[in-house]
Amino acid sequence: MCGIVGYNGSSNCFPFLISGLKSLEYRGYDSAGVAILRDDVVHLVKTQGKLDNLREAFRQAPLEGVVGIGHTRWATHGEPNDINAHPHKFGRVTVVHNGIIENYRELKETLRDRGHHFTSGTDTEIIAHLVEDALEAGSAPLEAIWSTIGQIRGTWGIAILIDGYPSTLWCAKNGSPLILGQSPGESMVASDIPALLAYTREMIFLEDGDVAQLDGPDIRIWSAPQTPVTRPPQTIQWNPIMAEKGGYKHFMLKEIFEQPRSVADTIGERLHADTHTVTFDDFSFVPDRFDRIFLVACGTSYYAALIGKYLIEAMARMPVEVDMGSEFRYRDPLITERDLLITISQSGETADTLAALSLAKSRGATALGIVNVLGSAIARKSDHTIYTHAGPEIGVASTKAFSAQVSVLILLAIHMGIATQRLSGQDLADVVDALVRLPKQINELLAQSAQINVIARRYAHSPAFLFIGRGINYPVALEGALKLKEISYVHAEGYPAGEMKHGPIALIDEELPVLAVATESNITEKMISNIEEVKSRRGKVIAIATQGDVHMGSIADDLFLVPRTHPLLQPVLTVIPLQLFAYYTADIKGTDIDQPRNLAKSVTVE
Ligand code: AGP
Repeated sequence: MCGIVGYNGSSNCFPFLISGLKSLEYRGYDSAGVAILRDDVVHLVKTQGKLDNLREAFRQAPLEGVVGIGHTRWATHGEPNDINAHPHKFGRVTVVHNGIIENYRELKETLRDRGHHFTSGTDTEIIAHLVEDALEAGSAPLEAIWSTIGQIRGTWGIAILIDGYPSTLWCAKNGSPLILGQSPGESMVASDIPALLAYTREMIFLEDGDVAQLDGPDIRIWSAPQTPVTRPPQTIQWNPIMAEKGGYKHFMLKEIFEQPRSVADTIGERLHADTHTVTFDDFSFVPDRFDRIFLVACGTSYYAALIGKYLIEAMARMPVEVDMGSEFRYRDPLITERDLLITISQSGETADTLAALSLAKSRGATALGIVNVLGSAIARKSDHTIYTHAGPEIGVASTKAFSAQVSVLILLAIHMGIATQRLSGQDLADVVDALVRLPKQINELLAQSAQINVIARRYAHSPAFLFIGRGINYPVALEGALKLKEISYVHAEGYPAGEMKHGPIALIDEELPVLAVATESNITEKMISNIEEVKSRRGKVIAIATQGDVHMGSIADDLFLVPRTHPLLQPVLTVIPLQLFAYYTADIKGTDIDQPRNLAKSVTVE
């Protein structure tokens, strides 16, 4: 996720650009840049790192101009460095882009065959080349932009300047947000509301497929070539702080609600639903190359790793060991060059996970990183990387990164299962079809968030909580307990439901609520027994069950239903009510949800 801004008016544009980028810095901060039209030519200033670097570079080489665009980057393709920083210019065309161009590789090959040379590792640069190509062929700018849009696939929010057109700014939207604003004598564009709030509260929300042209204060919009359209402005009531969170009270809640998109983006082009295959840019599994798989991570990512064990062993029938980074690195593990080590990390900087990776590589193991931050230490040190496309996760409590990690593990298990020939036919078709439906089902679930809020209020006074689950939902119970304890400061423990009799049932009384992840499976009857054991000791049970379940409602005190999916894909859905339960409980307690006490977003020390 990146932030883009653009200005077209009568004032010097840099103050708008830099303040707009500052307000969008939460969308990514790997690099930043601006492009400003002066004397009919577009000039660029761009730097790696935070906005202050750009501000300093601009101070040393200021640019005056009344038309300009800017970008703050969350790297998805191409390391975070000066060359890959946006804006990108080729020929007369300069572009900034938020989104993912899924077919940029094939387009790049075609253009290379036509003599084009590329300077960056980004997908975005392809846009400048395509528009320039069309201009060279005699198209007018608007025509060249429509021609480019007709060739690219994926998501984009783009702003474009062209040498020789000193008073015009173009933009286009598909899948990534783009908002226009106007005030006397000027027009502007931004990825999100905060960048425009200081200038106007009347905003035009472009729709997918739209192209707009800004000439001074004038805005024209088309929904298709030669098809002008009017998009009525909406009045924004948010204050600037609320706006950075997209109207949500906390980044954590915003990120919980971003999961349909982040899971869809992570699955992306890797899943070929038509052929029931999965491919990765940077990894291909060779079965007889490895004896064992090791999954190593910390915290929430470790719980994703535990789920990965169930997935890979079920689909690929490969033995999987799972370790916390802090344990693996000190237990002198039996790992060799015949093993594959998979690390999982949102930040890609977690010290214990990084140390485990170094140890495994020193023993000759092959290293695959599942990472959210492009170019992070774990990504750089791994032999192969599969990125989660969750976008920046600002809340310390990990939510969308977790569901994206599990989504990658599902893809990986399918990929490995096909390679080992242990997953095929109807079994393969069933899991692929279920995976395609997941983002929509997450959306359905989130639409019922108010119900979880009601349940959370009912139990908010409880001194502690127990989370239980079985099979692939056992790690979900662990994750639910971690979410609750780390943002509400209330003790919560996750436990395998089958272990209740071996101790935890002694805790049960009317003061200790039990959250039971009891969705449809081959061991549902066992979960029902566990719930009845709790009830018979006056315990309270909040059950997560599958839509259509007619039994759970009669035994649990509170019930939340999740859509039916393939048993192995359930964690992506069952975790959602637990994330919301933790969030609403903490909200009631008034804790600092986005930055809980004692915690940090990235644990780069032991
Ligand atoms: C999870 O909500 C916590 N923020 C924490 O457990 C986190 O998952 C852990 O520190 C691992 O971080 P990583 O994924 O960046 O490696």
